[in-house]
Amino acid sequence: MALLYDGSMRILSGMQPSGDPHLGNYLGALRQWVDGQSPDAFYCVVDLHALTLEISPEKLREQTLNLYATFLATGLDPNVCTIFVQSHVPYHAQLSWLLECVASYGELTRMVAFKEKSQRQEGYRVSLLTYPVLMVADILLYEATHVPVGEDQRQHLEITRDIAERFNHRYGETFRVPVGVQPKVAARVQDLQEPTRKMSKSVSSPLGTIYLYDEPQELQRKIMKAVTDTDGEMRFDWEHKSGLANLLEIYASFSHETPDAIAQRFERYGDFKKDLAGLLIESLGPIQRRYRELRSDEGYLRELMAEGALRAADQAGSVYRRAATAMGLL
Ligand code: AMP
Ligand code: TRP
Repeated sequence: MALLYDGSMRILSGMQPSGDPHLGNYLGALRQWVDGQSPDAFYCVVDLHALTLEISPEKLREQTLNLYATFLATGLDPNVCTIFVQSHVPYHAQLSWLLECVASYGELTRMVAFKEKSQRQEGYRVSLLTYPVLMVADILLYEATHVPVGEDQRQHLEITRDIAERFNHRYGETFRVPVGVQPKVAARVQDLQEPTRKMSKSVSSPLGTIYLYDEPQELQRKIMKAVTDTDGEMRFDWEHKSGLANLLEIYASFSHETPDAIAQRFERYGDFKKDLAGLLIESLGPIQRRYRELRSDEGYLRELMAEGALRAADQAGSVYRRAATAMGLL
């Protein structure tokens, strides 16, 4: 659905601290979060979700701080919205348990993300299967009406709606049923080397992922080496020219033009790529500078985390108690 924020929206979204934030995270999610921030918006680093795959304690700590600083660096303002870390608010794990008693095994095994990730490793964790239920809890605790996420999360939004409706039907009206919101361009940024696959923290090729904190030379190199095609025609066509289409969408999301209009402005791939690299360096520069400043003051980040957790718990606690009571817990 189109992105039009108005005052009656309650927004919740989350991001996993499972790797370094990349351009897909920024264009598919973070940038919309910033557009939608208000006192009715809640954004969290979902550290519990990151435990579904192997991650060392040091890395998890480090990346949680990095991602929290990234939220701030991209423009989220703790004086405007609530920014917190999922595990600091115990109601997420608690409501997740209650909802596991409403979700069915079958619907969880049908999740595409589960099928993909479980195939990649033997002895995967049970939490990889139950992960969507925790995400449902994240969303329902904040009575969200809108959840801004990239295209890859659509199925998880559907299961959120199904579980909320099932719960309401079984135990009485308890949860608000949310919808997902996706950006119009760049809802799905593809890997620059393998444009049929989404840009991702975990599985992309080293040259295929643009990280938010890549140095200018690195940004330049990745764009110039991005896979296109051999017909040399500047045209926006996802079906036949996915590499170029991906780059055009990235360009469009920064320049606020349409991909078609950009394709018409350039004759040659090389010129277009050079321009795109310049645009990226210019657009990411201020975010990178703010990030370095914020990340160097861990004490400040931790203070903000504590404040955010208090505000979040206030909201989440009342919904958790309502759900627990509805199910018959004394
Ligand atoms: P994750 O990195 O999987 O925790 O995703 C965090 C947010 O970024 C989610 O809202 C995703 O939908 C979004 N996201 C992740 N990868 C991409 C991508 N390649 N293109 C667009 N959005 C993405
Ligand atoms: N599952 C999401 C992802 O991998 C992250 C997430 C967890 C989330 N809880 C959420 C997103 C709640 C939106 C709302 O990207």
